[in-house]
Amino acid sequence: MSPRSTVPSINSFEKFREAVSAYRLPRILLMALELDLFTVVGERRWTIPQLARKLAVSERGLSILCRNLAMAGVLVKQGETYRNSRLGATALNARHGAYRGDYLNLIKSHWQDWCRLDESLRTGRPLDHDEPEEPDYRRRFTWAMHYRTLETAPQIAAQVDLHGAETLLDLGGGPGTYAMAFLAKHPRLRAAVGDRPAALEVAKEIAATHKAGSRLSYVPLDFTRQAIPGSYDVIWYSNVLHIYSPDTNRTIFRRALAALNPGGRLLIQDAFLHDREGLHPAEASLFAVSMLLFTEEGNTYSAAETTCWLKEAGFGRVKVLRLKRGTEDWEDGILEAVAPGRRSGTPARRTRSRESSRAR
Ligand SMILES: C[S@@+](CC[C@H](N)C(=O)[O-])C[C@H]1O[C@@H](n2cnc3c(N)ncnc32)[C@H](O)[C@@H]1O
Repeated sequence: MSPRSTVPSINSFEKFREAVSAYRLPRILLMALELDLFTVVGERRWTIPQLARKLAVSERGLSILCRNLAMAGVLVKQGETYRNSRLGATALNARHGAYRGDYLNLIKSHWQDWCRLDESLRTGRPLDHDEPEEPDYRRRFTWAMHYRTLETAPQIAAQVDLHGAETLLDLGGGPGTYAMAFLAKHPRLRAAVGDRPAALEVAKEIAATHKAGSRLSYVPLDFTRQAIPGSYDVIWYSNVLHIYSPDTNRTIFRRALAALNPGGRLLIQDAFLHDREGLHPAEASLFAVSMLLFTEEGNTYSAAETTCWLKEAGFGRVKVLRLKRGTEDWEDGILEAVAPGRRSGTPARRTRSRESSRAR
C-alpha cells in the first residue's frame, strides 16, 4: 500500500526546515540497502568492528549509521551489538523468501532519479533511461510491481465484488498479481493479463507457482496502438491511468468499452486527487512528479475528471467504490464504470460507494 499521506502545511521557516531535512532518514535507509546491510547482518548479532570489516567501511561511519538504523527500528541494538529487526531479517534480506528484491532496487534507483528532477523540469520529458519496451527493464520493473502489490492485491480482491463475472482482463496487469488474487478468490473465474510480452513472461512464471494459474491466459498487446482483443465481464485497470494523458486515456477507455460485454464493468485503481484544486492527497500529488520523471505524458487525475472521460468514451453509470481504510493501494477508492446494455451482471455489493460526481 502507498503511504497514507498528509504533508503538514509549511507556513513557518521552522516547518520549511523540517520538511527539507526529511531527506536524512531516507538517505540512511537507502545507504543500508546499497550496502546490502540487512542481508549481511542476516540472523546473527554483530559488533561494529566485525560488521565494519565485513562491509569494508569505517567503524566510525558504521557505528553512526547503525545507531540511526536502530533508532528507526530496522535494526535492534543491544549493548555493543546489533541484530536485524523482523523487517530487516525478512523483506530487506536477500536470503529470505519474503525479500522484496526488484522493488527495493527500484526504490534505490529512484533516489538518483529524483536528484535529476532539474532535467525533466527543463525539458518536460522523462529521464533518458526510461525505455518501456526494453525487455530487460520491463522484466525488472514487472517483478518490482509484483513485490509492491504482493500483500495489497489479495486484500483488495477480497473487497471487490465480482459476483456474476466469469471473465476478467487485467489490462496493463504486468505480473498479473491482481489477476491471480481475483482468481484465488473466485474459483469459477477465468482471467487474462494484457501487457507487453516481457511483462507477460514474468506473469507466466508467477502463475506457474499458483494452482489458480491454470485459469490465467495472456494477451500480448500495446493498447495505445491497437484494439483490445476478446470480450470480458470485468476489465481491471490498475496503476495505468497515471501513465497517460487525458486524450490517450479516452482512447484506451473507448477500446476497453469495446472489449466489455454489455453491462460489463471497467474498474480503475489509481492515485486519484480529491480536492477542487487538485492538490490532495499528498501522495497523489507527489506521484505526479514520478510521472514527470518516468513517462512521456503521465500525470495524476481526479476521479471527477476521469469520470468525464469515461462518459465521453460511452460508459454509463460511474461511481467510486470505497475500500476499508488501510487496505487500499491508494487512498481514494476505485472507480467503477459500467458499459451500457443490460443492467450490470456484476454489481458491486460489498463495497461502500458514492457518486463520483461528488468526489472532488
Ligand atoms: C505501473 S504498472 C501496473 C501493474 C499492475 N497493473 C499493478 O497495478 O500493479 C503498469 C503496467 O502497464 C503496462 N502498460 C503500460 N502501457 C502499456 C501499453 N501501452 N500496452 C501494454 N501494456 C502497457 C506496463 O507494461 C506495466 O506492466
